[in-house]
Amino acid sequence: MNNFESFHLAENASVVSPALPGKKSKEILAFQQEREGSIVSYPRNMPIAINRAKGAVIEDADGNLFLDFFSGAGVLNVGHCNAFVLEYVKEQQEKLVHALDFPTENRTDLVRKIFEQIPEKIRDEFKVSFCGPTGSDAVEAAIKLAKHKTGREGVIAFHGSYHGMTSGALSVTSNVKLRSRISSLVPNISFIPYSYCYRCPFNKEAASCKLDCADYLRYVLENPHSGFGKPAAIILEPIQGEGGTVIPRPGFLEKIVAIARAHDIVVIFDEIQCGFFRTGNFWAFEDAHTFPDIITMSKGLGGIGFPISAIIYNKSVESWGPGDHIGTFRGNQVSIAAGNGAFEFIRNFDVAQHTIEMGAYLMNRLEQLKATFPCIGEVRGKGLMIGIEYVTDRTSKTPAPEMVKKIRELCFSRGLLFEVGGHYNNVIRFLPPLIINKVIINNAMEIFESANREVMAQPAEVYQA
Ligand SMILES: Cc1ncc(COP(=O)(O)O)c(C=O)c1O
Repeated sequence: MNNFESFHLAENASVVSPALPGKKSKEILAFQQEREGSIVSYPRNMPIAINRAKGAVIEDADGNLFLDFFSGAGVLNVGHCNAFVLEYVKEQQEKLVHALDFPTENRTDLVRKIFEQIPEKIRDEFKVSFCGPTGSDAVEAAIKLAKHKTGREGVIAFHGSYHGMTSGALSVTSNVKLRSRISSLVPNISFIPYSYCYRCPFNKEAASCKLDCADYLRYVLENPHSGFGKPAAIILEPIQGEGGTVIPRPGFLEKIVAIARAHDIVVIFDEIQCGFFRTGNFWAFEDAHTFPDIITMSKGLGGIGFPISAIIYNKSVESWGPGDHIGTFRGNQVSIAAGNGAFEFIRNFDVAQHTIEMGAYLMNRLEQLKATFPCIGEVRGKGLMIGIEYVTDRTSKTPAPEMVKKIRELCFSRGLLFEVGGHYNNVIRFLPPLIINKVIINNAMEIFESANREVMAQPAEVYQA
């Protein structure tokens, strides 16, 4: 088995500055704060200026090394500056960078590779379109295509959803705070419950669950007093990311698709975060025996962080023509080459299997931690998309965001980076590069365990918001 040692800058964290941020980082951060707008977000919780990064390790401007369990928001599936992928990038950038949507062999290659992931018997039913460079662009394109196809306006999205920040994408994103300052979001959007079993909106236990959450879709579609008319589309993440790494119960996705199909509604699966081998499968929905009408992709598709996005969709929804969704940057040639490199790397080194094995190893370590720390309410994950939900106690399940904040601060000060999400900001989210190995996991877990131990030594009231 490959341990990918040479693909990482180091395998352990090393904080050499007397305090973080270190001196150089502090200066660069101060400049950023002075000159850049207040929307700068990530350095607020992880205050470092980055010098370089390789694999799962980031070196800041002061020479501190951080284990990166965040991967640039789930982008760097094959690791920072992966040398194998960089070869593809170097070759392409000498040859051709920008070519609008003219075909090239490079582009054809990536399209072929994506198509190889569609089951052979339905492969010919599908098409791919490259969208603008970001995930939100793919979401916008998917929604627009569904509207084109159906001639209808509305979209159904889910509690806990995150689909991006552009107007349409934000309109189908559930975070009330993010939405509240914009009065002109796209109208006719409705939110319904996702399959979030730890906090079941229908108060069901596993034994009594009959997927009422999915049936709720049928209920609102068929009830003349539900308050909304037939929508163009339904959009959902096969595993919710920002919503707290929420993995739906088996059968949920299938049921949603079946109900939507029965009502002639276009189904969009947003695979922007959970796709591109993050779960060990190319698409996170693969274990569900169903296939949506449109799939959105971005993040990992650009190999090592080159921006690109695409929609893969059934020909039956193709209702627009040349120029109906035009754009300057749709399928940058270097991003495409990086995507091709990432596909080859994943195939050559069997990264999908590695992801499953490392995911199981990390989940096992976290389950052990849960056995000792009662404030860990649930550990859930698939492949290397893992969430750890914190509560003040397992009976009340009261969310513990302050505890999570403190654990994150301690981990940061010891050299471990990760993101936080969830409905109540009480879920620690691990999205490490898929090429992490057991040594890196063990080192990260040492930091994580010590931070948990320190925080849990305090009475729970200390961390009540
Ligand atoms: C599931 C999902 N959809 C869409 C997006 C938006 O992608 P971008 O930030 O590239 O616009 C994200 C970003 O985190 C995401 O996680």
